[in-house]
Amino acid sequence: MRTRPLKVALLGCGVVGSEVARIMTTHADDLAARIGAPVELAGVAVRRPSKVREGIPAELITTDATALVKRGDIDVVVEVIGGIEPARTLITTAFEHGASVVSANKALLAEDGATLYAAAEEHGRDLYFEAAVAGAIPLIRPLRESLAGDKINRVMGIVNGTTNFILDAMDTSGAGYSEALDEATALGYAEADPTADVEGFDAAAKAAILAGIAFHTRVRLDDVYREGMTEVTSADFASAKRMGCTIKLLAICERAADGESVTARVHPAMIPLSHPLASVREAYNAVFVEAEAAGQLMFYGPGAGGSPTASAVLGDLVAVCRNKLNEATGPGESAYTQLPVSPMGDVVTRYHISLDVADKPGVLAQVATVFAEHGVSIDTVRQQGKDGEASLVVVTHRAPDAALSGTVEALRKLDTVRGVASIMRVEGE
Ligand SMILES: NC(=O)c1ccc[n+]([C@@H]2O[C@H](COP(=O)([O-])OP(=O)(O)OC[C@H]3O[C@@H](n4cnc5c(N)ncnc54)[C@H](OP(=O)(O)O)[C@@H]3O)[C@@H](O)[C@H]2O)c1
Repeated sequence: MRTRPLKVALLGCGVVGSEVARIMTTHADDLAARIGAPVELAGVAVRRPSKVREGIPAELITTDATALVKRGDIDVVVEVIGGIEPARTLITTAFEHGASVVSANKALLAEDGATLYAAAEEHGRDLYFEAAVAGAIPLIRPLRESLAGDKINRVMGIVNGTTNFILDAMDTSGAGYSEALDEATALGYAEADPTADVEGFDAAAKAAILAGIAFHTRVRLDDVYREGMTEVTSADFASAKRMGCTIKLLAICERAADGESVTARVHPAMIPLSHPLASVREAYNAVFVEAEAAGQLMFYGPGAGGSPTASAVLGDLVAVCRNKLNEATGPGESAYTQLPVSPMGDVVTRYHISLDVADKPGVLAQVATVFAEHGVSIDTVRQQGKDGEASLVVVTHRAPDAALSGTVEALRKLDTVRGVASIMRVEGE
């Protein structure tokens, strides 16, 4: 084993970084044996230097992250600051000064992964980011390496623990959205400002990363269709139950049937209770991958938290250090297919629509005509009426999303339709 240590600079020492430092210290001997050389924490960049950081020697702490990555003797930079800047500049500077990079930064990878990949390639360095999607769950490496010989057609997953906790609470206790959000906040599953989670931004960033890797094309955050889950009601869960379904916030990346384009989207959807994703409870994550030769695969586990996320970071650190000792690099960007990302309107899906309608003869026929005019075929209709008003629940067959939303728009204009109570896509059948 080489005795000269590989030097690691840790950028950020918060929820994830502090756990990375702890495991690096407590498992130092095992890591050295697995890598073939000791790893040394050479510096830790933070914003607040006076904060007490257990187990980290004070002399390693700095507020000058730029100077740390420019030192020239750093082998690996672990970026767990988050956000776009200064993280992007620090990562590209690290490559320029000879270091490889391990990052957990989904926001940056989804926004501008191409710049990072290009800088890594230009300087012959590694860029690893297992922790950026679904925390501890090994997913990026299976997609980039284990499935590199297969053709992935679909990646569908629950990639945000906060929203899964809220939806699971609504499902099991019958709570409304606000009540379930309050519970998630009290238990530490939701942040004080939950917007990034509940509006689907976090999941959309992960969908962009997954789609890019799965389909060997470039997908950015802006390419991902996004709907949050704040409008999901207990009535939606009641409807889902009647259909033998539950509701999950899903990230779905698909190759079009003709193979000529891809789509990426995040929205709440009904899925059958028999689907493996339906049994993913609380704050857990799971990703379902469909590949041509492998068939269906499911990856499951804790999608966030300091220690689970640090596990993924440490796995990358070991891989990058091994590459460094072998004077090799791991996989870089693979975007050779250059498939276009189609808009949401082209996605083929099913709708579950609840309508409040006048309870009088001919309404059902009128509604059915609107569906037919838009080329959307109806699978089932359920009608309940009382005191001159009725509710109509229509579940469609698969149709382009544009045709389905056009149908809903036309339904809203019918005099006999008092309101559209809810619209939810149905997936996983
Ligand atoms: N938390 C999770 O469960 C989780 C899961 C998966 C991925 N991630 C990703 O991991 C990354 C880190 O998340 P986190 O939860 O650990 O964040 P965090 O707890 O807020 O920690 C951020 C750290 O970065 C430091 N920092 C902020 N701005 C800095 C700057 N300009 N220069 C130097 N240091 C700076 C902070 O310093 P101070 O300590 O002085 O404030 C803090 O130590 C993010 O990209 C996040 O998306 C997190």
